Amino acid sequence: IDIKKLREVTNGVITIDPGYKNTGSCESAITFLDGEKGILRYRGFAIEELAEKADFLEVAFALIFGNLPNKVQLDKFHSDIKAQSLVDDDIKKIIDAFPKTAHPMGVLSSLTSALTAFNPSSVNVDSEEDMYNSVVKIMGKFPVLVAWTMRKKQGLPLNYGSKSLGYVENILKMMFEQPNEDYVINPIVKNALDKLLILHADHEQNCSTSTVRIAGSSHVGLFSSLSAGISALWGPLHGGANQAVLEMLEAIQADGGDTDKYMAKAKDKEDPFRLMGFGHRVYKNFDPRAKIIKKAADEVLNDLGVEDPILEIAKALEKEALNDPYFVERKLYPNVDFYSGIIYRAMGIPVDMFTVMFALGRLPGWIAQWREMRLNKEPIGRPRQIYVGETERGFIELEKR
Ligand code: ACO
Repeated sequence: IDIKKLREVTNGVITIDPGYKNTGSCESAITFLDGEKGILRYRGFAIEELAEKADFLEVAFALIFGNLPNKVQLDKFHSDIKAQSLVDDDIKKIIDAFPKTAHPMGVLSSLTSALTAFNPSSVNVDSEEDMYNSVVKIMGKFPVLVAWTMRKKQGLPLNYGSKSLGYVENILKMMFEQPNEDYVINPIVKNALDKLLILHADHEQNCSTSTVRIAGSSHVGLFSSLSAGISALWGPLHGGANQAVLEMLEAIQADGGDTDKYMAKAKDKEDPFRLMGFGHRVYKNFDPRAKIIKKAADEVLNDLGVEDPILEIAKALEKEALNDPYFVERKLYPNVDFYSGIIYRAMGIPVDMFTVMFALGRLPGWIAQWREMRLNKEPIGRPRQIYVGETERGFIELEKR
């Protein structure tokens, strides 16, 4: 589309679309999403197949570089990431300065931004080598920041895991390793985490991804753009929903498990309460990720021998909602985060770290989208508005107001 021509033809008329409900912001070759049919594909690969057969690092490579890696590419990607996993020791001082009560998403956003201070050279986006180096750098350092954010809160020493482990295994070791104890990786937990990270890895132009692209369109660096994305993800209408879902399920349980009461609250237009984990801007049929996660939640809880009454509350809510005209008419189905928190909880991850886990999964998607935006030489993101304020007014001196 020739926008200049369009502007001339429309004589300066501006489209207004609050929330960009029907506005495309870019052309993208990364993720295909059909909300009516419930289809999600990364680089053409069905999400169901990737969740079943691939591991997170393969998916990250495919998202960022366009195709699944062969063995040589994958091994090199992993060893380059490992070589870049050390973070500057002064980052520990920044972590120390946060109060224990700080929300991990705020800490993670700050630490990601702080990385720019320790890695100041800007990326030459015309150099493939430079691009690649910045990708492996953040893929290496981000899990360390995630693990340290959690460990600091728990009063545990900051660690680096082990270079002999796979990417996802090492995340688990960094997060859960206790002093003077050998951390043994449970393959069920590892597989569940792989699946969760893959399912969260990209989702076209959602709120945080659009934030990453629009921040990056000013040619600010990758780390700063990611930091902006992390802040956008934090909100309860986006990534923060996974924490909000679990807190909601716990509240329902504490209130005697009365799901009818909360269904009624969600439908009451006078009540601001919404059924967290339900509804999606794009999926108007079902969220294919929710289907996979629901099954995984059952399996993980079974395999780990965890009996969580909250899973039963979640299932009851889902059943009621699927048969309730309010939810049916508005096409409100469980989204990816309705069941993810139940798995995170079974894995021993604290509730306030759930959105951080989402960020860990979304990292390759954000990187891929930032890279695509720069390689496509997209112009700076700068929407217009319809001005509805005062028309011209004369200035009134301070003493006369
Ligand atoms: N509970 C009750 N009613 C809801 C819910 C809900 N969870 N979601 C939407 N509705 C209702 C709205 O009140 C509205 O009703 P109305 O037509 O009578 O006014 C209608 O459904 C449409 O909702 P909108 O808010 O206009 O839909 P929008 O596309 O703007 O919002 C969103 C989508 C933000 C996801 C919304 O469904 C919501 O708030 N869900 C709960 C939070 C959540 O789970 N977020 C995670 C999203 S997925 C992700 O980011 C990973």
